Amino acid sequence: TVDTADFKVADITLAEAGRHQIRLAEHEMPGLMSLRAEFGASQPLRGARIAGSLHMTVQTAVLIETLVTLGAQVRWASCNIFSTQDEAAAAVVVGSGTVDDPRGVPVFAWKGETLADYWWTAQQILSWPGADADPQLGPNMILDDGGDATMLLHKGVEFEAAGEVPAGTDADPQEHRVFLDVLRETLALDGQKWTRVARGIRGVTEETTTGVMRLYQLAEQGKLLFPAINVNDSVTKSKFDNKYGIRHSLPDGLNRATDVLMGGKVAVVCGYGDVGKGAAEALRGQGSRVIVTEIDPICALQAAMDGYQVAKLESVLSEGHIFITTTGNKGVITAAHMSEMRNKAIVGNIGHFDNEIDMAGLARIPGIRKVEIKPQVHEWVFDDGESGGGASGHGASGERDEPRSIIVLSEGRLLNLGNATGHPSFVMSNSFANQTIAQIEIFSKHGQTDADGNPPYRNEVYVLPKILDEKVARLHLAALDVELTELSQEQAEYLGLDVAGPYKSEHYRY
Ligand code: NAI
Repeated sequence: TVDTADFKVADITLAEAGRHQIRLAEHEMPGLMSLRAEFGASQPLRGARIAGSLHMTVQTAVLIETLVTLGAQVRWASCNIFSTQDEAAAAVVVGSGTVDDPRGVPVFAWKGETLADYWWTAQQILSWPGADADPQLGPNMILDDGGDATMLLHKGVEFEAAGEVPAGTDADPQEHRVFLDVLRETLALDGQKWTRVARGIRGVTEETTTGVMRLYQLAEQGKLLFPAINVNDSVTKSKFDNKYGIRHSLPDGLNRATDVLMGGKVAVVCGYGDVGKGAAEALRGQGSRVIVTEIDPICALQAAMDGYQVAKLESVLSEGHIFITTTGNKGVITAAHMSEMRNKAIVGNIGHFDNEIDMAGLARIPGIRKVEIKPQVHEWVFDDGESGGGASGHGASGERDEPRSIIVLSEGRLLNLGNATGHPSFVMSNSFANQTIAQIEIFSKHGQTDADGNPPYRNEVYVLPKILDEKVARLHLAALDVELTELSQEQAEYLGLDVAGPYKSEHYRY
């Protein structure tokens, strides 16, 4: 039974609705379901206490219940204030119990958290009942998306060693100032909490590009406190979820938010990495004329070869009807850029953090007004006395004389999860099969040593071996009626391969 004081969701009575969706999602997640069949009996995660921070969607519910099926205890929060599907969160809490007697997993997530709520939920997944008195009861694994749970722990340890939390400055993003305030409160209550928790952690498995970048930075500085597996760079993650997932969920987000016809419009996609490639393909598929911006000559050339115009954002501000950031970088669309856009241009981000679009700068433009069209859809009305295209002079003829405005989705946070429900189950089955295998790897190999006395994982960042990556793909073939050709022994020898794989060298790029 889940202690009724030990979870927080929007409305637990949504559990039944959530359960129906989870049941259908299971059918579309053959990777996770076959891992349940393969490992259900041997329980490789028995004894694992996993603190999970990842968008609390229907697909994540199937992941959580897979981890539990493999023996783990789990506490969960979302890694974004807008991405929770409340019915999925409720269903996970209820589990096999009832609304009055929940027996699932403690979830701390609801759609529309404040920043203070967000950091509270992050602390809840790392604060296990009884662990303050007995650290053995605390979490021993982290499953992260974007790295916030990992960052909370690393910063907590750093501040506890220093004995104080630095004062934020006005230049810090609001997000960071709220984070510092929350850690300051915890430090005042317990000066060793995060140090204790961190000592018990065997490792972290990280879902996304941005979180992985943060892990490599920590490892380079010698500051990483435990081993990490970079799930993102499994081929069956970043070349599938980031690309084909976005190809599905970007138009879904745009449609649910605005229902504006994409055909015929000019769509500007900032960044042509894995996410940008999926975004551009989706928009072109809807009949948009797509323009790409890039800083990397290789990706810029790829975009050109794929038939897209590649331009600087400044050159196409007045042309675009839709602007999507996919870079994982900061300050990509500035307030000055937005004030140059045509009337009713749609601006959205699909990268992990909201600093790709300068929302704070937009709010500071003199005279600007924010009108809520509906939750996660806002019109920003400029006070420049112009209409129908304004500064850029792109007014459609016949447009009413009204002030110029732009539409910003999900307040600059990832719009596929804020305005829609994120990636579909089948692609997430690939990502989450990698997550599950990575959790098993780190958890079960902890404490082992090889013949030379070396541990299999040090405080560094690893990717899963290719043979496991191929296994994840293999688990998804039957559902799509894929007939895979088998190498003959003779062919395998000719290529210098094993018939059972792996089939490519480590540096092959797919
Ligand atoms: P990536 O590294 O493959 O691609 C990012 C691209 O942006 C790179 O090619 C880079 O050269 C380019 N770029 C960087 N700064 C730029 C700038 N100022 N202007 C134009 N281009 C610029 O990374 P990936 O895997 O595509 O991920 C991008 C972001 O999306 C990350 O934050 C990642 O965490 C997030 N993500 C979001 C998902 C979602 O469901 N919304 C799913 C997967 C990843």
